[in-house]
Amino acid sequence: MPFTIAVAGKGGTGKTTLAALLIGLLKERGAGPVLAVDADPNANLNELLGLKVARTVGELREETLERIADLPPGLPKEQYLELGLQECLVEDEGVDLLVMGHGEGPKCYCMVNHILRKYIDVLRGNYRYVVIDNEAGMEHLSRRTTQDVDALLIVAKPEPISIRSAKRISELAEKLKLRVKARYLLVNDVPGELSLALEEELARTGLPLLGLVPHDEGLFRLALAGQPLEGLPADSPAKRAMAQILEAIGEPQRAMDR
Ligand SMILES: Nc1ncnc2c1ncn2[C@@H]1O[C@H](COP(=O)(O)OP(=O)(O)O)[C@@H](O)[C@H]1O
Ligand SMILES: [Mg+2]
Repeated sequence: MPFTIAVAGKGGTGKTTLAALLIGLLKERGAGPVLAVDADPNANLNELLGLKVARTVGELREETLERIADLPPGLPKEQYLELGLQECLVEDEGVDLLVMGHGEGPKCYCMVNHILRKYIDVLRGNYRYVVIDNEAGMEHLSRRTTQDVDALLIVAKPEPISIRSAKRISELAEKLKLRVKARYLLVNDVPGELSLALEEELARTGLPLLGLVPHDEGLFRLALAGQPLEGLPADSPAKRAMAQILEAIGEPQRAMDR
């Protein structure tokens, strides 16, 4: 099974940016293949990766329910979903992307979700890494649309409110009994040194601090121009920090040993 990293945190903390940086680093090091999963209904990981999305898993789920009565004879819904999932997968060199899309409406999705989970699990088996960009509520993790996680990175801004919010997300992960091997805190967009008050706030989370990602002008400029992160210079401070963070998770050493 692949090594699965999920990135969580309140909106605007930098989840998508950091997930895209991790994916880029794994790709550069040839540590893949990587399956990138965008599990935020407000999906934009594809833009940072410079990929176009044809269809989301949410759209496939809705379509399947709408068409279930008039599926062509001989095409059972299992097969329809399996083929549909292949179409949802955006394939690129070293990285494939699956966009989960919008959440669910009032219909009954159990059967479709059950089949989808099965095929997503089969799909996962093809990769060395899975990197999941989550929404704050972690709906997909709690519904197990996305399965076991080796490292949950909870991202916060260097502000007390944001750190407390990260703590709540961590508690939610515990309450939901998510199958997460390790939870870490990551502070992003750090302008300089952390204040003593903030360090105390960090200690109160009880979470191991995996690293600090500095404010990065290059990231800021790319975001302004709406460009993918591959345009980031090699000496980008945020990218360097994420490389250290990858080491701290214990990867990609493991991948290189293989
Ligand atoms: N370390 C950083 N330095 C500069 N800008 C950053 C940094 N991290 C994130 N940003 C910017 O902050 C904004 C929000 O980031 P994003 O990754 O979309 O957050 P989220 O996915 O958590 O909502 C984006 O414009 C992004 O470019
Ligand atoms: Mg995001």
